[in-house]
Amino acid sequence: MSLYRNSVWFVKGLRQYCRGGYESASKRFDPEDLEVDVAGRSFMVTGANSGIGKATAKEIARRGGVVHLVCRNKDRAEEAKKEITTETGNQAVFVHILDMSDPKGIWEFAEQFKKEHRLNVLINNAGCMVNKRELTGDGLEKNFATNTLGTYILTTVLLPLLEREDDPRVITVSSGGMLVQKLNVSDLQSGDVAFDGTMVYAQNKRQQVILTERWASVHPRVHFSSMHPGWADTPAVRTSMPDFYEKMKNRLRTEAQGADTVVWLAVSPAACKQASGQFFQDRLPVSTHLPLAQTKASPGDEEKLMQALEELSQQFKPR
Ligand SMILES: NC(=O)c1ccc[n+]([C@@H]2O[C@H](COP(=O)([O-])OP(=O)(O)OC[C@H]3O[C@@H](n4cnc5c(N)ncnc54)[C@H](OP(=O)(O)O)[C@@H]3O)[C@@H](O)[C@H]2O)c1
Repeated sequence: MSLYRNSVWFVKGLRQYCRGGYESASKRFDPEDLEVDVAGRSFMVTGANSGIGKATAKEIARRGGVVHLVCRNKDRAEEAKKEITTETGNQAVFVHILDMSDPKGIWEFAEQFKKEHRLNVLINNAGCMVNKRELTGDGLEKNFATNTLGTYILTTVLLPLLEREDDPRVITVSSGGMLVQKLNVSDLQSGDVAFDGTMVYAQNKRQQVILTERWASVHPRVHFSSMHPGWADTPAVRTSMPDFYEKMKNRLRTEAQGADTVVWLAVSPAACKQASGQFFQDRLPVSTHLPLAQTKASPGDEEKLMQALEELSQQFKPR
């Protein structure tokens, strides 16, 4: 089954996820969708110092939004801020230092942020594919801590702040790679079988899609979406997937093309006409399963995921 899923997915990727896929999809984009002024609205972008996150932050700044860059490295974050403010002329760009694999740090950051700021749109973009099983200081597997638990805690702690605002949105940058994985709640820390970083990453990205659907069903005031940026030429792809990068480097999307649907989901009125909770690719909601791939999880397993994340989150809540 995994050979079937991987092959169908890769063929789909060659057609849709490369630069050519973007160029043909973009022929149906309505340019007016992004001709918006978001002055007075506040956006948070995690992993905003690089790649898709930085390209997204720049497009939002260009449209007048207040942008909070959430990054783990101060120098890289300040450099990105300088580039964004210089290129867009928007000075309302702020740096916050946070490691998304540190659940206690996320709690503290989000609680403090709630006291000091407003927020209309949260963009969960930070992500990693660590290819060897590595544990954080809290004993959590690094990919899971960053991609799934970090996203869960940041979003759930900030939800009350978002719910106070007009037109609140949460966008999570998942990946089409999740299509090859069925939710597995029995081994969230990937310690039971031989470790495969690509598959652990895909499992985390599947979890993000399920979180988005679940949140949408219980928080009707907020518009949630997850998305796939396509295959874009970013530092993460070069360093975490060197073989893939070598093979595909001439066909990859630019960072801006990868960011296009994130920006569209974050700023356009058109995005909010779509139902909340869906998975997007090139400005359209798309299926979260490949045909005949048997990747649909039971509602019971989805509920177990939510419970496990809530329990873990509470363990790290500052007392
Ligand atoms: N590029 C693609 O083809 C592609 C395809 C599918 C999905 N995605 C998703 O797109 C998102 C952005 O990735 P990208 O391709 O743009 O790669 P990127 O340029 O390497 O960006 C990843 C960002 O996440 C940050 N990050 C990673 N771990 C973090 C942590 N523990 N705490 C805080 N920040 C952390 C990185 O910070 P540092 O600079 O400090 O490392 C960087 O800013 C990711 O969620 C990725 O899974 C990308």
